Amino acid sequence: MAGAHRGAVVPSPLPERVERYGVVVRRWEADDAPALHAAVLANLEHLRPFMPWVAHEPLSLQQRRALIEGWTVEWAGGGDLTVGIWRGDRVLGSAGLHRRLGPDGLEIGYWVDRDHLRQGVATAAARALTDLAFTVPGIERVRICHDADDAASARVPARLGYLCLRDSPAAVPEAAAGPGEQRVWIVTRDQWATTAHRS
Ligand SMILES: CC(C)(COP(=O)(O)OP(=O)(O)OC[C@H]1O[C@@H](n2cnc3c(N)ncnc32)[C@H](O)[C@@H]1OP(=O)(O)O)[C@@H](O)C(=O)NCCC(=O)NCCS
Repeated sequence: MAGAHRGAVVPSPLPERVERYGVVVRRWEADDAPALHAAVLANLEHLRPFMPWVAHEPLSLQQRRALIEGWTVEWAGGGDLTVGIWRGDRVLGSAGLHRRLGPDGLEIGYWVDRDHLRQGVATAAARALTDLAFTVPGIERVRICHDADDAASARVPARLGYLCLRDSPAAVPEAAAGPGEQRVWIVTRDQWATTAHRS
């Protein structure tokens, strides 16, 4: 759904919560600031090689709250959705659905807490977010990008049945990876409906 705003078509906010595959994936809210803050501070060295925003850490708790407020404004205006990955009251990681590839696509990003690695958390969250993305009318493709030499990140889209553009660069030419630095994976609405990612 989309609404008119100052003459332009503005997308509706993305759905803010999905619970399945053993995780709850929900939009970060102001009250979550202490939990997000603790999780980020505990993972700075784990994330530093892969997440450029770590260069701006450590933030204060007040700055963290402001960051979440910014995410909320962005989401409410139809932009990116930034979510926590939870099991009960434990933060397992963080993820996002980003509007980086035009009106008909979304990109998933994710990181997982260092004490919860290799338990299927990233795979579950990416699977849940792909499901969620395709509940949005007009979304026809979902993308995952990561450093080409990040083997753990690559396993997530591969396992979910995403197509690596290295293998089929003509599929979405405008999403072509940078010069050997990024790997780009894509799944279309039709592929998601028919692949065996739910097994
Ligand atoms: C990449 C990352 C999200 C994976 O999270 P995770 O919850 O441990 O991943 P999963 O448990 O769902 O495992 C997914 C696959 O990766 C494999 N894997 C996980 N860690 C691995 C590692 N260090 N080396 C090789 N393979 C690894 C798992 O065996 C699994 O493969 P399988 O499906 O063939 O069994 C996590 O390592 C991380 O937060 N990395 C730093 C941030 C990052 O790189 N984010 C990606 C940017 S989009």
